[in-house]
Amino acid sequence: MLPPRLRDSRILLVDDQELNLRFISQVLQNAGLHNITTTQDPFAVAALATLHTPDLIVVDLHMPGLDGFGVMEALRPQIEAAGYLPILVLTADVTDESRRRALDAGARDFLTKPINQQEVILRTKNLLETRQLYLDLEQKNAMLDEQNATLEQRVQERTREVEEAQLETLERLARTAEYRDDQTGRHVLRVGRVAALLGRTMGMPEAEVKTLRLAAPLHDLGKIGIPDAILLAPRRLTPDEFDEMKEHTEIGSRILAGSSSDLLQLAERIAKTHHERWDGRGYFGMVAGDIPVQSRIVAVADVFDALTHERPYKSAWPLDLAVDEITKNRGTQFDPAVVDAFRICDAEELVNPAESVPTAFGRDRAGFDRLAGLRVGSRLGRAPTGIPELEADKPGTRIA
Ligand SMILES: [Fe+2]
Repeated sequence: MLPPRLRDSRILLVDDQELNLRFISQVLQNAGLHNITTTQDPFAVAALATLHTPDLIVVDLHMPGLDGFGVMEALRPQIEAAGYLPILVLTADVTDESRRRALDAGARDFLTKPINQQEVILRTKNLLETRQLYLDLEQKNAMLDEQNATLEQRVQERTREVEEAQLETLERLARTAEYRDDQTGRHVLRVGRVAALLGRTMGMPEAEVKTLRLAAPLHDLGKIGIPDAILLAPRRLTPDEFDEMKEHTEIGSRILAGSSSDLLQLAERIAKTHHERWDGRGYFGMVAGDIPVQSRIVAVADVFDALTHERPYKSAWPLDLAVDEITKNRGTQFDPAVVDAFRICDAEELVNPAESVPTAFGRDRAGFDRLAGLRVGSRLGRAPTGIPELEADKPGTRIA
């Protein structure tokens, strides 16, 4: 008798001799097998194999019309699809040549005629056990694949959560620095978004745009080290006070220095150089292309946002005056390329940048043409009361 776990195996017997079919069927049934299909028609084997999905096919090698080689050829798609589908070949004489051909065609073992009952059972048992081992292995592999996929998904979820937490921490850090003169912390977030908008408009790769959007809000992190008396002074600063205010670039870059993160390294460069001017008259005298492009972008975003929004020491400028101010400083304070990108951006988007800036950005002047319809002071509330100077080298500037 075959072991119980093999007794449900499906067997397909193929022989043109009905007597052989009856004999083998009887032997297999006596061994405990009960799912046995027989056929004398070799042309029906492929269809029967598809219908019954056998675990073992026993096929006679010598049959009229289509011999065992032809049957195995017809079964090739099923053999390949099944992974391991054993074929036991029945033959009266096994020459080396026919054995080689049969093995090439997919035969796994041979039964020689006259058929020996014990040999039928032993060879059937061996092939079915191998088949069962293959199926067990396949099932375990499928389970492992499923577990791996689940684990991979969990790892991705945890990684995303950690990344989100890190980004949130950076955002909160930026808002902390801004808290004393902008309790909403919206200025730094808008600077990040506008910087991303400008970078994208200038053709910056999307990965760099994303890094810029996240690093730019940390540009004024060093304000955390500036006394309230200076930071919140509702008046022009004295030269000494202004020198102390300038320290926020050094303080910010020192806080951010030494990180292995690309994002924080960029944030450090921006914190240090966002008050540099294209013409070299900025805090450290860096000139034009020596200034990191991200800092040249943040310089425009920072000043424009400071102009168009209210601060403790100033009211919001009307949009058209702010645009004129940025444009007027093209090639002196600001990088001409950044100002050119600024001028083809949508003005509304620059004032109130969306969380996610659209990638398809119209390179036309439509946004600025709409400015013609905006009355001075109408969109942003009141008219300016004292326009601050933008020149970074003049004491009294409040665009810090
Ligand atoms: Fe600053």
